[in-house]
Amino acid sequence: MMMGNPFKNRDVVSIKDFSKDDLLYLFGVADRIENLSEKERGHLLEGKILGYLFFEPSTRTRLSFEAAMLWLGGKCLGFAEPRTSSVEKGENLADTIRTVENYVDVVVIRHYKDGAAKFAAEVSNKPIINGGSGTEEHPTQAMTDLYTIIKEKGVIDGLKIGILGDLKYGRTVYSLLYALSLFNVKIKLISHPMLRVRREIFFDLEKKIALSEHDNVEEVLPELDVLYVTRVQKERFPDLAEYEKVRSSYVVNLKILQKAKEDLIILHPLPRVDEISYEVDSSRYARYFKQTLYGKKLRAALLSSILDAKV
Ligand code: CP
Repeated sequence: MMMGNPFKNRDVVSIKDFSKDDLLYLFGVADRIENLSEKERGHLLEGKILGYLFFEPSTRTRLSFEAAMLWLGGKCLGFAEPRTSSVEKGENLADTIRTVENYVDVVVIRHYKDGAAKFAAEVSNKPIINGGSGTEEHPTQAMTDLYTIIKEKGVIDGLKIGILGDLKYGRTVYSLLYALSLFNVKIKLISHPMLRVRREIFFDLEKKIALSEHDNVEEVLPELDVLYVTRVQKERFPDLAEYEKVRSSYVVNLKILQKAKEDLIILHPLPRVDEISYEVDSSRYARYFKQTLYGKKLRAALLSSILDAKV
């Protein structure tokens, strides 16, 4: 039986709102879009407009959404810097959303506050996509991460996945963990003790997937199929002295990777600071720039599904 479109007119606020079937549906759409002719693809979202409201800096999320919309024949408008909008004059988020929804078909928002995307979705009559909210969630990054794993490893079930870095403040980690919990995987959480994942993760996920915590990447590297690296989120530390204590607590380099499986893949949501040495970029393990291309394809699938284009 053909599955209906579970994304039609839907907000994407939290990865927790989506099932394994929903994600597999989306990955199927991404593959089908890729296989369309350029002409077919270029008309999918003709006449549709994406609004983007970015209250925090971004390279990949904003530009991949824009690239995806343009790839499918749609248009984009918005701001990448709130100081160029009436937010600077004191306009609140609700009024900004109530205005922008009159000009567009779907909105992607990035905000420094937890809960901002959820609030925007409550206010808006148009679908809202969370492009990253505070330390809370980054659901479309998790969708991209899983799509990258499936494309590069062929499966997700059965894999051992290490997640290394700032597990406390990194919002991509939270969305990724909930997304991975829909699959049969073993997860090694590797971090400095000050950067451990929030305890709610164990409460929510311990019964669904195998989770273990480690101090040192070398301890678990030989058994990993995927290593997901994140940077230390300097901007989220309430005290910069605490950041200084952990900023250089881990680096992935070719020496460490001598212990890795031949077919290990390394992912990173990016931006990178210094947690992966540049020498790794040209190694057989690196997939983090390919991951940015999967991000465009996945977001094209998401936009066309929300806007119910016939793919
Ligand atoms: N992965 C990610 O969210 O990157 P940007 O901050 O550049 O959008």
